[in-house]
Amino acid sequence: MKDQLMNIETEALIRIENAKNSKDLEEIRIQIFGKKGELTLLLRNMGNVSQEDRPLIGKIANEVREKIQDSLEAKKEIIHREQLEQSLKNESIDVTIPGQFIELGHRHPLMQVKEELENLFLSMGYDVVEGPEIDTVENNFDALNAPEDHPSRDMSDTFYISENILLRTQTSPVQIRIMKSQKPPIRIVSAGRTFRFDDVDDTHSPMFHQMECLVVDKGVTLANLKDSIDKFVKTLFGEDMKTRFRPHNFPFTEPSAEVDVSCLKCMGKGCSACSYTGWSMELLGCGMVHPNVLRNCGIDPEIYSGYAFGMGVDRVTMVKYGISDIRLLFDNDVRFLKQF
Ligand code: DAH
Repeated sequence: MKDQLMNIETEALIRIENAKNSKDLEEIRIQIFGKKGELTLLLRNMGNVSQEDRPLIGKIANEVREKIQDSLEAKKEIIHREQLEQSLKNESIDVTIPGQFIELGHRHPLMQVKEELENLFLSMGYDVVEGPEIDTVENNFDALNAPEDHPSRDMSDTFYISENILLRTQTSPVQIRIMKSQKPPIRIVSAGRTFRFDDVDDTHSPMFHQMECLVVDKGVTLANLKDSIDKFVKTLFGEDMKTRFRPHNFPFTEPSAEVDVSCLKCMGKGCSACSYTGWSMELLGCGMVHPNVLRNCGIDPEIYSGYAFGMGVDRVTMVKYGISDIRLLFDNDVRFLKQF
């Protein structure tokens, strides 16, 4: 019996040594320790061993079992390590292969100008607020003193979603939202998308951008409005830039004006770009907030007054960078966008 045990041990250790993978090891384990395994069958015959030999044989059998088990474990560990090394070798990265060039994006010139404007107004003590692109007819027209028969409400130039909801045609409804939710003093700017049923040409797009400004407080005058606009135009375009106020009509302001700035090409001298007028295209609309608008928002026009203006962000961008066609801003051609 002792010899048989030693044979099992010797053979098992050789087979384990020669095992190539964990499947081989599992087979060996079953051949020895399984239900019909060599060691299992042999130990079933322990009953035939004489009483005095039994402790010794038992001890040897235990040692044989432990040795084979330890050897199996050790080989398992070796195979595992070899497999790991092999897979690391297969998956290794060749750092000498040339890299792939990932083209980085670029801030859109419109967004650069929008942020520049917001930062400028922040530095002048204004708050930057947001308004929704879809708003009510009430906020976009009625509360802004644009009565039901006002031409800007025409279905042919306004995108209606339902009878009472539309894509805002201007950022001015933000004025209503702010005045209805905040008490004066109010000093805000709000920039974003606006929509009108315009045919596309080099200065028109059905989607464009505006920035709205609103100041409401006690004793706000037209002089404050002129001074603020002059200051921000000079900061944005340079000290030589002049502003021109032309009387105009907006339902939500009284008096109202449109503002032009000096032609950037000739700085006011007159050239072919400005048809020898010295002025470039209109930059913004402005005025003193109409008493009806203040009243519509629950603000007493006997106590408070305010000014407002709405500026085309696309226009500012075009003037600033000398872009002659608004479509270039929305084509998203990186060759164009990269230049700014
Ligand atoms: N909302 C006007 C437009 O889209 C621009 C405008 C004019 C805004 C005068 C104002 C303002 O706040 O006071 O044409």
